[in-house]
Amino acid sequence: MSVRRLDPNQPESFEFTPENLEWAKGQIAKYPDGRQASAIIPLLWQAQKQHGGWLPEPAIRYVADMLGMAYIRALEVATFYTMFNLTPVGEHFVQVCGTTPCWLRGADEIKDACKKHIGPEKTLSADGKMSWMEVECLGACVNAPMVQINDDYYEDLDGAKMEEIIKALREGKDVTPGPQSSRKTSEPIGGLTTLTEVPGAGGK
Ligand code: FES
Repeated sequence: MSVRRLDPNQPESFEFTPENLEWAKGQIAKYPDGRQASAIIPLLWQAQKQHGGWLPEPAIRYVADMLGMAYIRALEVATFYTMFNLTPVGEHFVQVCGTTPCWLRGADEIKDACKKHIGPEKTLSADGKMSWMEVECLGACVNAPMVQINDDYYEDLDGAKMEEIIKALREGKDVTPGPQSSRKTSEPIGGLTTLTEVPGAGGK
């Protein structure tokens, strides 16, 4: 695992919006007395969402205070799990799967498209709208290669399709998530190869 450090530029403070605060209290209430620290991951996740997709140090301290935890314990969680971004990400945050099935199916082309149209990995694009990073398997190998952009998966990609998606998002256009091929979900690309006939009354 790479070294994960807090961003040198931090906001002065952080606090949940009233809605998120109510939500956080509901999460904490799910755990028995003395076990409130178990809510650390959902609370950090919500703080990250509220803060534009990355987790600043004041948010880590804020969540630690809410849960009665030592700051170092909350920092350990935030720096261990790569789902927490410790530096700013773009409004469109692209996570490119580079694990073997996606790599065999062309993940390098996807990374090249990101480098060309967004910039170096883990840095904000010049317009501040996008960033990208390589991640491990996102569990959609059957539709490889794929990326996750914010909360959505985009699958069956190649370099050209990835370039189109980046361009469209940058222009504020909608892109339909899911397979960027003709297939639905994870059905076979060329059509069904098995179970092509409805069994007759005799069970054939
Ligand atoms: S290897 Fe890319 S989603 Fe599993």
